[in-house]
Amino acid sequence: MKIAIIASEGAPFLKTGGLGDVIQALPQALSELPKNEVSVILPYYGKIKYSGKWDTEFLGSFKVQLAWRREYVGMFRLKTRRKKLQVYFIDNERYFNRPGIYGYDDDGERFAFFSKAALSLMAGLGLQPDVVHCHDWQTALVPLLMKTEFAGDFGQTKSVFTIHNIEYQGKANLHFNYDVLGLDGSCDEILRFDDCTNFMKAAIVTADRVNTVSETYAQELQYPYYAHGLAGMLSSRGPAFSGITNGIDMELFNPEKSAGLAAFYNAGNMREGKLANKRALQQRLGLAVDDDVAVLAMVSRLAGHKGIDLLCYIAERLLQRRVQLVIIGTGEQKYEWFLSSLQHRYPQQASINLCFDPELANLVYAGADAYLMPSMSEPCGLSQLIAMRFGTVPVVHAVGGLNDTVEPYDETQNTGRGFTFQSYNADDFLGAIDRALGLYYDAHERWLALAEHDMRQDYSWKIPAQRYMALYKDALEG
Ligand code: GLC
Repeated sequence: MKIAIIASEGAPFLKTGGLGDVIQALPQALSELPKNEVSVILPYYGKIKYSGKWDTEFLGSFKVQLAWRREYVGMFRLKTRRKKLQVYFIDNERYFNRPGIYGYDDDGERFAFFSKAALSLMAGLGLQPDVVHCHDWQTALVPLLMKTEFAGDFGQTKSVFTIHNIEYQGKANLHFNYDVLGLDGSCDEILRFDDCTNFMKAAIVTADRVNTVSETYAQELQYPYYAHGLAGMLSSRGPAFSGITNGIDMELFNPEKSAGLAAFYNAGNMREGKLANKRALQQRLGLAVDDDVAVLAMVSRLAGHKGIDLLCYIAERLLQRRVQLVIIGTGEQKYEWFLSSLQHRYPQQASINLCFDPELANLVYAGADAYLMPSMSEPCGLSQLIAMRFGTVPVVHAVGGLNDTVEPYDETQNTGRGFTFQSYNADDFLGAIDRALGLYYDAHERWLALAEHDMRQDYSWKIPAQRYMALYKDALEG
């Protein structure tokens, strides 16, 4: 099958969040399946173009029409020996050579431009994919464009739209079509939602298939509590809307070779391996070096919906227990201040690192005993998977992808992967941590067996890639 993946970010070129990880790993996994040919199309951000890291070739240029304007598009392709996975970049310095990636007043225009340019590139180069797979609001206009302006080029091609984060829908005023897109006035109703232009709504109604990144989140999104206004739109798609839980790149996140670790290990020698990393972590962060204390960790943006409120609420009580708390991440100032003051008061016990440092993050995943993820909602979540891959037992709020990936530990059967709590409540969170600490301190052998069991699971993209293939086939058949 020929698959084209269009997205606003993708590692290793550039990533700001989980979307970037998916756009690295999913195309790779799809291209490894027989008979697939995968193209990835990304903006040629200045940060990629001038990084000096990537060898690309210029394929030519053309102009795309945005309402009354014509904008330059340069086409570049990554030089690679992988014949089944090609990466194309859309160049336009005015739109993409900026210090940041998102957050500009003209973001709507930038990504509408990108979506048109990506389709034009495919048409111009004769790529003729069977399926075009687009992601989040930035590329949410693609399915509508395929059915209108580009209908002549993509008559046989199906579109799949994946929601990674429904909070950002791509909203603009009602003149957006007239000012920027330049589609026929008959598209106005498709683009309109709540008296705004809403890119994501347009994708939900026009894509051949819509999905999100876990089964539970697909259910949740049909309720107003989670859907930021789009519940009715999503449920109206019936079986054409589904959930596929993400994987992780098992090579990138690999305790046998990830950068930043003090010792490499696998499930067979986890006990010694994790202990060496724990000591290194405690030393590096200035915590009391203590083999026996439970180290609880979080690697997270310090944002409200990640559940940082719950953590702050229980922090004092938590630190009365025999634990060490390690946090890495940056975010909202009120959390940064609160957590820093915590470290000030409990210097031997709490280490708050207001930074983003992937190698330190790996050491934390390897050296910690338990991983805390109390997110208010979580489409999929990748860090609980990374934690388990490193033998760090997750304690999570049972929502979205956390519910699908962290089966609760059952003491009587000795099954499950971690500890969960059901309602978004700080005391319930503390209750789940206490259950974890109970096992850690009172039945340490069983704790270690649980961690080893977590390490042995398959979190790879193999199964999700097969499920995306089934979704693409379903779109093509129907
Ligand atoms: C978004 C979601 C996260 C998900 C990721 C990749 O960042 O918030 O839960 O894992 O996308 O799909």
